[in-house]
Amino acid sequence: MTFKKTILCIGAGYVGGPTMALIAYKCPQYKVTVVDIDPKRIAKWNSDNLPIYEPGLDEIVKATRDRNLFFSTEIEREIKESDIIFVSVNTPTKMFGAGSGMAADLQYWEKTARQIRKYAESHKIIVEKSTLPVKTALAMERILSSAENDIHFEVLSNPEFLAEGTAIKDLEDPDRVLIGSRETPSGLKARDELVEIYANWVPRERIITSNVWSSELSKLVANAFLAQRISSINSITALCEKTDANIMEVARAVGMDSRVGSKFLNASVGFGGSCFKKDILNLVYLCRHYGLDEVADYWEGVVRINDYQKERFILNMLSAMFNTLAGKKICLFGFSYKANTGDTRESPAIFIARRLIEEKAELVITDPKALNNAMIDLNGVDGKISYVEDPYKASANCDAIAVMTEWEIYANLDFEKIYKSMAKPAFIFDGRNILDHKRLYEIGFNVFPIGKPALTHF
Ligand code: NAD
Ligand code: UGA
Repeated sequence: MTFKKTILCIGAGYVGGPTMALIAYKCPQYKVTVVDIDPKRIAKWNSDNLPIYEPGLDEIVKATRDRNLFFSTEIEREIKESDIIFVSVNTPTKMFGAGSGMAADLQYWEKTARQIRKYAESHKIIVEKSTLPVKTALAMERILSSAENDIHFEVLSNPEFLAEGTAIKDLEDPDRVLIGSRETPSGLKARDELVEIYANWVPRERIITSNVWSSELSKLVANAFLAQRISSINSITALCEKTDANIMEVARAVGMDSRVGSKFLNASVGFGGSCFKKDILNLVYLCRHYGLDEVADYWEGVVRINDYQKERFILNMLSAMFNTLAGKKICLFGFSYKANTGDTRESPAIFIARRLIEEKAELVITDPKALNNAMIDLNGVDGKISYVEDPYKASANCDAIAVMTEWEIYANLDFEKIYKSMAKPAFIFDGRNILDHKRLYEIGFNVFPIGKPALTHF
């Protein structure tokens, strides 16, 4: 079969895999290939056991793989054959040298640019899918145009806004697709080609365009705003706990103002995920680079409150359990950073687990999808930790349960059965406010929600 266009994506991760699978699904007229330097990851994409868990993804990959969706390690060949190259490699926080702990580590990004330059034999559109500091497209252009040939590369910014756990829904029905381009004739032509791809399923009015720098910056700012809402509500949980106010009631009252909106006001043990902290720190670093210290301090506060919230959770556990956790058995309900994903990157559960071990508690961890990642995250931690998939077995004989992830299954467990199997007094710390606190109290638990009065029997 001859395809109308050949699309390549470099980077087969949480973004590259689902995004390309959806393009292939919606556009059978295009050939879509995803490459990666990690052969194990590619082998998993080509198997029945995909490397990531994402609701709806298996079905889409099954419908498209080997039809017009391909996963490969043949980076050189695929670069040569492609018309459009999406770059979706990881851009973690740099952990060495200048900007350590703040700036984006662009080594994977730069290697990709050099690979494209080396192997390309015809003009190409390069699409930045990864989240990058403002002006990265300029660096990309410079690397690409330094080859001694007349191949032209047009670099576009097309940040991804999907959230894990709802990636397929977000990709199928996005609030908006953002495409940033140079305002030159070739920039605008490339932009229109990318608009055409998305227009196969996204209404035109939701495909918005801007200059490249606004597009790159909008992605960082979107994540900063989302994280800021969580830190805002979480900061108020501390005040609620001191004043007997209830954060759920406050969030409802505040969120019903249509100017504020009700989404993303769920108080929690803290936000996690591979991007919020990384992208805010990246924004902070950029502000400092341009001498905007007040702006940098403002956004850094969002991360500080998140760290404070996680530590506060531990201090609340300590004070509730008679100021010692040593030798107590604590069950963590959930380890992924949010429900419906097995991803544990920057999960608050990692911090909580490490702190509990520092307090010499014994841990039992349960999660429907993230136990393998949890074992990797806690590998080398010096303490007693076990991993048990069944939440009933996991919580048996424990002194306390701490809810880390808002998996729906946890709200529907038989807590009378769980209570009977636990050591007494039995405690529940609901880091996601998903349980029926009054009912738990009636069963006999001492209940400590986030930002709501505790319900205790003493
Ligand atoms: P990831 O770590 O899951 O995947 C990145 C992949 O790139 C890895 O498989 C890695 O092996 C591969 N890679 C690295 N260098 C390569 C090279 N030179 N050639 C080929 N492959 C290479 O990362 P991710 O979560 O998919 O994130 C990718 C980017 O998208 C990041 O910039 C992130 O900030 C952004 N983003 C992520 C999400 C999300 O939900 N995870 C959402 C929006 C945006
Ligand atoms: C987030 C953004 O929502 C996406 O738009 C963005 O594309 C992505 O980051 C990215 O750039 O990587 P994600 O991290 O997958 O997506 O998940 P979110 O739903 O945003 O949740 C992030 C964290 O905040 C989770 O730990 C979640 O539990 C927590 N959260 C979320 C709360 O504590 N309260 C809320 O009200 C909402």
